[in-house]
Amino acid sequence: MLISEVETPAVVVDLDVMERNLSRMAEYCRTQKIKLRPHTKSHKIPQLAKMQVESGANGITVAKLGEAEVMLDSGITDILIAYPLVGKAKATHLAELSRRANITVSLDSEEAARSISEEVSARNLKAEILVELDVGFARCGVANEDDALILAQKISELPGLVFKGLMFFPGQFVVGSNERASLRSHVNSLLDRTLETFDRAAMPVSTVSGGSTPTAYEAHMFHGVNEIRPGMYIFNDRNMVGIGVARLEDCALSVVVTVVSTSVAGRSIIDGGSKTFSSDRYLAGDGKGFGLIREDPAVELESFSEEHGHMNIKRSQHRYRVGDRLSVIPNHVCSTVNMHNEIYGVRGDHVETVWEVAGRGKVR
Ligand SMILES: Cc1ncc(COP(=O)(O)O)c(C=O)c1O
Repeated sequence: MLISEVETPAVVVDLDVMERNLSRMAEYCRTQKIKLRPHTKSHKIPQLAKMQVESGANGITVAKLGEAEVMLDSGITDILIAYPLVGKAKATHLAELSRRANITVSLDSEEAARSISEEVSARNLKAEILVELDVGFARCGVANEDDALILAQKISELPGLVFKGLMFFPGQFVVGSNERASLRSHVNSLLDRTLETFDRAAMPVSTVSGGSTPTAYEAHMFHGVNEIRPGMYIFNDRNMVGIGVARLEDCALSVVVTVVSTSVAGRSIIDGGSKTFSSDRYLAGDGKGFGLIREDPAVELESFSEEHGHMNIKRSQHRYRVGDRLSVIPNHVCSTVNMHNEIYGVRGDHVETVWEVAGRGKVR
């Protein structure tokens, strides 16, 4: 099938670009001797997770147990759940999954640690634990080196738990390179203090798991980091181009859309809105627009209804006609993928493969 024959809106991945993104990241990690554990939330597709492992990743990351299960069912057996699992139901589910795979969990509370300990030790199993440290994103993670050590010591005392190290997510680094450099020096001070504190307490830290796509190629400048979990790098998106960590030609994923109305002066309407792209904002530059039209950057994808994308075409040279097809690079690739049941892998003009987004909807 040709891409021009695919019914729109359709998420299309350029396989050559995606493969280049995968091998470049794997090569960087190999050279820097940093483990690569891609976050698969960006695609939720087991076949892509397998390609990541085959191209050099040491394992994968997921957020939810349901996602872990989908990946496990496809044969991936080294999984980090980088999300605090809270409550007995989740601890039981984790314990059952850990019979089948090497699963590590990150957490930041004694409550989460205790319930996992109860369920795994009742089954004579073990769970490896990373303590999450807040490095300034202010989402999850203990606040400082002393709290990290206290929690790590509690974990080591709990039956069935093995303290493996530290994890952090530098979510505030979706900014330009100068700002990232100054944020990094704060993170490095905290990492230095934390590693010294653990060293003094004779508490071995074998893993320090860091970010993220914006920081991935800077991972060697984060003190002590020996594993990274980038997700978006597989496809990249408009935000990553906006902050300068990817070039337009590194964007593997676009949403192919059709112009469905040109009746209103100065506008053309495409067949995808917030239910096709999500409403995630542009985090760089002037913050405007909901995606980049590859064929015509002069168009501003100004706003979304649920099923309509409103293109402001006043600055465009092109006269749009109903039926025209365009490809849009979304602002945020992870939430766009999560809107779709399947994704088309293309080479040149041809559809080579169609993947089911099998982890979609696995929010538990
Ligand atoms: C805990 C965690 N690790 C890794 C990632 C992947 O980072 P990125 O989305 O920048 O690729 C995320 C993304 O939200 C995350 O929450």
